[in-house]
Amino acid sequence: MTSLEPGPDRVLPRGARFITVEGIDGAGKSSHIAAIADRLRAHGATVVVTREPGGTTVGEAIRGLFLDHGMSPDTETLLVFAARREHLERVVWPALDRGEWVVCDRFTDATVAYQGHGRGLGAARVDALAEWVHPGFLPRLTFLFDLAPEVARTRVAGRSGLDRIEAEAQGFHERVREGYLVRAAAEPARFCLLDAALPIEVLRETIARRLDRHLAEVGA
Ligand SMILES: Nc1ncnc2c1ncn2[C@@H]1O[C@H](COP(=O)(O)OP(=O)(O)O)[C@@H](O)[C@H]1O
Ligand SMILES: [Mg+2]
Repeated sequence: MTSLEPGPDRVLPRGARFITVEGIDGAGKSSHIAAIADRLRAHGATVVVTREPGGTTVGEAIRGLFLDHGMSPDTETLLVFAARREHLERVVWPALDRGEWVVCDRFTDATVAYQGHGRGLGAARVDALAEWVHPGFLPRLTFLFDLAPEVARTRVAGRSGLDRIEAEAQGFHERVREGYLVRAAAEPARFCLLDAALPIEVLRETIARRLDRHLAEVGA
């Protein structure tokens, strides 16, 4: 494997084919990921679909620790970034370097929202770690499913056993939602902000149009 630090000449090609999907639990991310990958494949792309935290053996083990055990917000954040680095080195960067596309269920914007805003660590601390773990590397396109936490909660009510994060009080999820919206407002070119209360078919159409525009922009 070549150098894992993306130099300036490598940032754009890598990030351009990296698409992330964000939003609180129950907002609708999983409902659209397969369709996003299919749309890209229809344009001839090879697509890797993955998720964070996880996506590697070490990452899934960290995900288990993370979801099953209480810990300090700093520990939580460091674990997420350890899993992220492993995921980038083993899955995401190699795929992008092969010219493939990667669609990822959550990335660093989630850490900014959950740990930075939800846990109150502050976005700056999370961004400092991001600068260490993936300097200069960001998705070029991020779909943010925005939904009121009380609506999201009713959607996931049928799921068996809420995990440690899902079980947090509503105030936590409000802060997470706000954290995502602050991020989206700061980077309007990267974010596609979606009203996740709309019907799935309407969202699918909006996402498809945005993807087609993105494909045209990056020349794929
Ligand atoms: N736009 C929507 N309107 C109504 N229900 C939805 C919508 N999108 C998803 N759902 C439903 O909400 C639940 C959570 O969706 P999911 O895609 O699993 O969310 P996430 O992956 O963000 O946690 C699922 O039961 C799904 O069928
Ligand atoms: Mg999901």
